[in-house]
Amino acid sequence: MPQITYIQADGERHAVGADSGVSVMKAAISHGVPGIVAECGGSLMCATCHVYVDEAFADALPVPGDDEDEMLEVAASERRGSSRLSCQIEVTEELDGLVVHVPERQA
Ligand code: FES
Repeated sequence: MPQITYIQADGERHAVGADSGVSVMKAAISHGVPGIVAECGGSLMCATCHVYVDEAFADALPVPGDDEDEMLEVAASERRGSSRLSCQIEVTEELDGLVVHVPERQA
């Protein structure tokens, strides 16, 4: 089972086991990881599932689609090169060990 680690802005870490096929957002919600709000439930309408993907995995993910790109523009925390919406990242075996950083605020 792939492991995903979420690092909060204050450095607190939450490592969870996530089923392949779920989103990085859903894995966070189902394990009670703080800081991933996901108001819209994953339908690309809120940007409250914003994360910064750790550099080590920068090339492991497909580039964001146009809709995700647009929503990232209205994210509450600064958009960076590593910004992604976690509802759009599908957990796969290849992403085992993925580390994402949770922004300071989502709204
Ligand atoms: S959960 Fe709303 S855009 Fe990801």
